[in-house]
Amino acid sequence: MRILVTAGPTREAIDAVRYISNRSSGKMGYAVAAAALERGHEVVLVTGPVALARPRGARTVAVTTADEMLKAVRTHVAWCDVLVMAAAVADFKPMKAHPGKLKKDRMPQSLRLKPTVDILRAIKAAKGKRCFVGFAAETERLVPEARRKLKVKGLDLIVANDVRRPDSGFDVDTNRVTVLAADGRLEPWPLMTKKAVAGKLLDWIEAHR
Ligand code: CTP
Repeated sequence: MRILVTAGPTREAIDAVRYISNRSSGKMGYAVAAAALERGHEVVLVTGPVALARPRGARTVAVTTADEMLKAVRTHVAWCDVLVMAAAVADFKPMKAHPGKLKKDRMPQSLRLKPTVDILRAIKAAKGKRCFVGFAAETERLVPEARRKLKVKGLDLIVANDVRRPDSGFDVDTNRVTVLAADGRLEPWPLMTKKAVAGKLLDWIEAHR
């Protein structure tokens, strides 16, 4: 299969040296890309800024902002059979980014923000028969929130995790997830390495296709 994976955070500039971002190491998305390559699938990896080695054999597209990630996803979505949207896209950006470095004593007391584009919603129309998989990072109401996102973002599957848990949060090699499918199936998976979660996710995707 041709699998398009997004991973890592995006960044929205406040000025030349500061930005708004999300906590994300990129480990889960990179694990999906690596597992897909191991199984002989073709992979395009759209990655935000992370400190991970690029998986060998994937075409990698490096992006910084949500708009750049949307552009890269739009470019490759027609090519793919499967989209796995594991990126932690920043949800807000400053109304205006300052081109230089704002001096501390000139810093505004508050920042005026506007929402970034929701990538999954923006490309919903391009789905057709493609399999779209999303992730949901939650701190409360895990299942209802994941179910809501599954529906509004038009996904086939959503992988929900409670990011407050130390074993499933940021920058760790393990994850404890609950997966929800569009057909109503709901499965809590035990604590596993991100590599094992990626493998199980690919099992599901391969069966679904
Ligand atoms: N996502 C996206 N575009 C965004 C934000 C998120 O495509 N601007 C994708 C993520 O890659 C993930 C899914 O949507 O696959 C859910 O992301 P999450 O951050 O959990 O949800 P949000 O839509 O940002 O909602 P909220 O912040 O209210 O929880």
